[in-house]
Amino acid sequence: MQYRTIHVEASRSYDILIGRGILAGLGGFIRPLLGNCRLAVLTDSNVDALYGDAIINHLNEAGYDACKYVIPAGEASKCADNLLAFLNFMASSQLTRSDAVVAFGGGVVGDLGGLSASLYLRGVKYVQVPTTLLASVDSSVGGKTAIDIPAGKNLVGSFYQPSLVCCDTALMDTLAPEIYRDGCAEVIKYGMILDAGLYDTLHTMPFDREAVVARCVEIKRDVVQQDEFDNGIRGLLNFGHTFGHAIEKLSDFGISHGEAVAKGMVIAARMAPLCGLCDVADELSALLVRYGFDVGCPYGAQEIYDALLSDKKRRGGNISVVLPRAVGDCTLVTMPVEELAVLLSKVIA
Ligand SMILES: NC(=O)c1ccc[n+]([C@@H]2O[C@H](COP(=O)([O-])OP(=O)(O)OC[C@H]3O[C@@H](n4cnc5c(N)ncnc54)[C@H](O)[C@@H]3O)[C@@H](O)[C@H]2O)c1
Repeated sequence: MQYRTIHVEASRSYDILIGRGILAGLGGFIRPLLGNCRLAVLTDSNVDALYGDAIINHLNEAGYDACKYVIPAGEASKCADNLLAFLNFMASSQLTRSDAVVAFGGGVVGDLGGLSASLYLRGVKYVQVPTTLLASVDSSVGGKTAIDIPAGKNLVGSFYQPSLVCCDTALMDTLAPEIYRDGCAEVIKYGMILDAGLYDTLHTMPFDREAVVARCVEIKRDVVQQDEFDNGIRGLLNFGHTFGHAIEKLSDFGISHGEAVAKGMVIAARMAPLCGLCDVADELSALLVRYGFDVGCPYGAQEIYDALLSDKKRRGGNISVVLPRAVGDCTLVTMPVEELAVLLSKVIA
């Protein structure tokens, strides 16, 4: 079985394994880390229908007693009710502190599973087995866990690193094209913020999935190692997200996360030359369009401004946005919110 290993040094150090078909080896990867324990596999209804039996069989064959809890697919499942229901499932399955959670799915399952693991019995170990491109390059790496509450997305969560990430890239073969594309927006983001070489390789379509996932994970790893608790450089990963979140919110989440981030990255890129930085907006737009994104912004500058003022990235009268200095080189720029309003009115018709 061939796979790449990327090591993360954080408050808990762990390996991220990336390869095609490595789900079959999951039990063997887990054993040196967790020993003999019971495993609670959290997954969603779509992933369960496709791979639920396979993961349980692989774990059983490796000698693990694994129970499974399935939530309905979709963002609405990342909620307090499901958090409590899964915690209750673990308790009624009599899981102990030496047992562990396996989060098997996209970012919804990963975020909910990680938060559950951080809370159950004041913390049990957990393993991320991402099944979407976005979860593989983003949500399964870095230890951010969360649920959504009525006041907003991801408002309740913790920093809690997994013990292992096992990324079987073959699982992505069954993703709906629009879900795969959402992940591509994050991949393009990594190229833009920190790696011009990665960005260039993305012009070859389809890209080499294992190599690209591995490079994105390395980039996120390097950022997280410098700023695990998101007080500084980790903010670079928000390129396109400040405006993207505003667009998602304005669309009442009718515009997907990836599409919103694509639009947000283009807004940021158009802003850069007005701040004395380089102009890569046309280049970036062209690549995003090749990936099938509509990069036009359906909202006016004032609407975007109002929506992002409630964004958690705002500190006092200032707001931080990530702007490109060049392809592969972005920087955090903090400015008064009034200045951002002026810039938005110049880049959005
Ligand atoms: N923790 C973090 O650092 C972080 C970072 C980015 C995003 N997130 C969170 O991640 C979530 C989005 O993640 P996502 O895009 O993976 O969404 P998701 O988990 O909802 O998955 C998207 C869809 O793909 C389906 N799916 C998953 N794997 C599949 C497969 N292999 N084959 C077929 N269908 C499959 C799911 O059932 C779902 O319908 C959001 O809640 C976001 O807040 C977290």
